[in-house]
Amino acid sequence: MSASPTKAKAGAEKISVVVSAKVPVNDLVTRFEFKRQDGGPFPTFSGGAHTVVEMNDAGRTRLNPYSLMSDPEDTETYAISVRRDDEGRGGSLFMHNFVNVGDQMNITYPVNLFNLDLRARKHLFLAGGIGITPFVAMSKQLDRIGGNWELHYGVRSAALGSYAEELSTKNPNKVHVYEDDKGEAIALEALLNGQPLGTHVYVCGPKGMIDWVRQTAKQAGWPDDNVHFEEFAAPQPGEPFEVRLCKSDRTITVGEHESLLEALEREGVDAPYLCRGGACGQCETDVIRHDGAFVHRDHWLEDEVKASGKKIMPCVSRFVGASLEIDR
Ligand code: FES
Repeated sequence: MSASPTKAKAGAEKISVVVSAKVPVNDLVTRFEFKRQDGGPFPTFSGGAHTVVEMNDAGRTRLNPYSLMSDPEDTETYAISVRRDDEGRGGSLFMHNFVNVGDQMNITYPVNLFNLDLRARKHLFLAGGIGITPFVAMSKQLDRIGGNWELHYGVRSAALGSYAEELSTKNPNKVHVYEDDKGEAIALEALLNGQPLGTHVYVCGPKGMIDWVRQTAKQAGWPDDNVHFEEFAAPQPGEPFEVRLCKSDRTITVGEHESLLEALEREGVDAPYLCRGGACGQCETDVIRHDGAFVHRDHWLEDEVKASGKKIMPCVSRFVGASLEIDR
């Protein structure tokens, strides 16, 4: 996602794939590689694109977005890296525990909400943890066209620094790794102040890191258009709630551990999505009437729209109250 995202138009069309490799990267992260099931070529993509991986978890469909980290020009293999989240909703555990080489899966066509701005004179990448993955693809894209990039990568420890060693070895003058357990940290203000005019900064990592970079850049006078960030919010659990679907003419219940979008999908209701993380705007849905309060968790709706109670983003946002009716 960029600082000023445009509304995505594409649907979430699927590609049938076979898992061609499952490679442990470290104690938390595993890389999965996919080939097309029909043996044909994948479409090329641009660095920063993601795909949504469909998992059939004992009859429950899970749909999780992951950044593509393979070479954007490689039409034979797509690769993603999945960080195991023991406290999460189960998608990453399913990938780690139950997905194996030879399995057939569906993934969506790539969609890019975190594009490189190729007008930039220099691309400054700031990654935290598993937020490294889009930059692996972006750096490959820029290397191909002779683009100027530099990466500053914060990791918990050397052992958990996914791809840090290979990136540093290949690009010793461009890659700077900061190991948290050694007390190392990015000197962000100095780093931002030292950039040549025309630099764009890109950040992907934990929310705290994204907020820190955006605020520091703003205070240092960086234009919003030069600051890009990738932040997908994971749906959070909450009290179950009922929703009246006026187009479908029925009422459904959203469970504690599912999102409104997942409840719509479970009921076979047509509900568009691209990011499933409150970032792209694709799932924006009109609220017809409500009596209660929204728990907005997206990064898409403006604050005034959120306050108006006229829109909800079903991928991440919830409702608490007596009644809710939406235009689905
Ligand atoms: S699917 Fe992207 S904001 Fe909901």
